[in-house]
Amino acid sequence: MQHCLAEGNREWAQHVPVLLLIVAKTFYDHKGSPNGFAPYETGMAMGNLLVQAAKMGLYVHQMGGYSKELAAKRLVISAGFEPVAMAAVGYYVNAEVLPLALRKCEQQQRTRLPIRPNMKSQ
Ligand SMILES: Cc1cc2nc3c(=O)[nH]c(=O)nc-3n(C[C@H](O)[C@H](O)[C@H](O)COP(=O)(O)O)c2cc1C
Repeated sequence: MQHCLAEGNREWAQHVPVLLLIVAKTFYDHKGSPNGFAPYETGMAMGNLLVQAAKMGLYVHQMGGYSKELAAKRLVISAGFEPVAMAAVGYYVNAEVLPLALRKCEQQQRTRLPIRPNMKSQ
C-alpha cells in the first residue's frame, strides 16, 4: 500500500504498522441510486475512528496525498465504494529517530486557525 502514497508521505509512513484506505459508500445497492450522504457518513466514521484510536493510545495521521488509481488497482474495492483518503495508524515514537526535516516538522509549535463563527445571528 505504501507505493500508493505521495512521495512526501511515503518518506515517513513507510514505518507505520497500519495503513488504511478510507472508502465511501457512494451508491445505495437497495435503491440503485447515488448515496448523497456519503461524504457525511465517511467523515463521521473517520471521526469516530479518531476518537477510538485516541482512547486506545494510537495515533492516526490522515492523508489526501495518495493515488486513487493505484489504490483501486492494488485493492479489490467493492462496487458502490470509492477511495477517499488514506491514514497511517501507529504508536508515538521519539521524534529523534526521524530524518532532520521531519523531526523539525514534528517538533515545531503546532498552530491552529482561530475559531471564527461565520454565521451572524439575525
Ligand atoms: C483530508 C485530509 C488530508 C490530509 N492530507 C495530508 C497528507 O497528505 N500528508 C500529511 O502529512 N498530512 C495530511 N493531512 C494533515 C494531517 O492529517 C494532520 O491533520 C496534520 O498533520 C495536523 O496534525 P496534528 O494535529 O498532529 O498537528 C491531511 C488532513 C486531512 C484532514
